[in-house]
Amino acid sequence: MKQSNDSDMGKPPIISIRGLTKTYKGGHQALKGIDLEIREGEILALLGPNGAGKTTLISTICGLVTPTSGTVSVGGKDIIKDYRATRSLIGLVPQELTLGAFDVVIDTIRFSRGLFGMKPDERYLDSLLADLSLLDKKQSMVSRLSGGMKRRVLIAKALAHQPRVLFLDEPTAGVDVELRKDMWKLVEKLRQEGVTIILTTHYIEEAEEIADRVGVISDGRLLVIDEKDNLMNSLGQKQLMVDLKTPISALPDSLKDFDLLLSDDGQRLTYTFDAKGERTGITALLHAVSEAGLGLKDLNTSQSSLEDIFVNLVHNEGRQK
Ligand SMILES: Nc1ncnc2c1ncn2[C@@H]1O[C@H](COP(=O)(O)OP(=O)(O)OP(=O)(O)O)[C@@H](O)[C@H]1O
Ligand SMILES: [Mg+2]
Repeated sequence: MKQSNDSDMGKPPIISIRGLTKTYKGGHQALKGIDLEIREGEILALLGPNGAGKTTLISTICGLVTPTSGTVSVGGKDIIKDYRATRSLIGLVPQELTLGAFDVVIDTIRFSRGLFGMKPDERYLDSLLADLSLLDKKQSMVSRLSGGMKRRVLIAKALAHQPRVLFLDEPTAGVDVELRKDMWKLVEKLRQEGVTIILTTHYIEEAEEIADRVGVISDGRLLVIDEKDNLMNSLGQKQLMVDLKTPISALPDSLKDFDLLLSDDGQRLTYTFDAKGERTGITALLHAVSEAGLGLKDLNTSQSSLEDIFVNLVHNEGRQK
C-alpha cells in the first residue's frame, strides 16, 4: 500500500487503527485488515464503491460495530476499554437518517450534548443551528421536517458536544446544492478550529476539492492513502490530443510504438503519458507525426481527475482477484 511520509511525526495521531478486521454474523468479511493513522486537524476523504466497508470502518471507530480483531485508539485511548472517553471525542453524522420522530429540534440537540456530559450552552447550540440554517426550525417537530432538514439536524446533533473528530458518512448523498454549500462552509470553519474530519463520499469532485488526504477502500481493504496532491501526481496520467488536418484510416507503422489511440473518425490521436515521468515522449511523438506526413490542426492536453484514478484503482483491484 502506498502511504505518504508523515511530515508531522512528532504529533501522535488522533486516531490509530491497527490490523482491524470485521466479519459480520453470517460470515461476510467487511474489513480485511485496515491499518490507518489519522492526523489531528486533517480532512480525510474515504472513497470506495458500495459495500467496500466504509460505513463498517466508521461504525467500528465510533463503537457501534464490534471489531473481530485489531485495535483502534482515539485520542490515545482504546475504543473498547475506554468507550465513553473515546466516544465523547467523536461526532458522527450517520449515513442513514436516525432521528426520533416526536422530538423538537432543539430538544434532540440539547439531549445529544447532555449525553456526553457537556454543560448546557444555548449560545453555542444557537450558533450551530444558525450555521446549518436551522434557527427558524428550532422549535419544530423533527417529524415535520423535510429529508434535507433532517440531515441538517443530524449534523447539529453530531456537533452538539463539540467533538474533536467529526465523521460524515455520505453527508451529501441526495442533498440539495444549498445544504452542500452550508455543509462545506461549516466543515471549513471546523477545520479552522482544529477539528479532524473524516468523510465518505461518492462525489469524487468533492473529495478533490475539500480533502487533505484521500483513502480508497475496496472490498474491505485500504488500497491507497496519500495526500491528495501526491495521489494525483503519482497516479495521474496526462493525455495529449492531437487533431489532424486530414483524417487517416489507420495508424502509420512508424507511430505504432507510441501509446496512441486513433479516434473512430480518424481525426484525433490520443497519446497517454506519465505526467511525472522525466521524458514525456511528446517531442519524439510530434516529430514522428510530422515525419509520417500528417498535418496538425490542434493540440490539447488533459490531466486525469481523482475520479479516473479511483476508477482505475478499483477496477485493477477487481481484475487481480
Ligand atoms: N449489519 C450487517 N450485517 C451483515 N453484513 C453487513 C452489515 N452491515 C454491512 N454489511 C456488509 O458489509 C459490507 C460492507 O458494508 P458497508 O456498509 O460498510 O459498505 P459501504 O462502503 O459503507 O457501502 P456504501 O457506499 O453502499 O455505503 C457489505 O457487503 C454489507 O452488505
Ligand atoms: Mg456506507
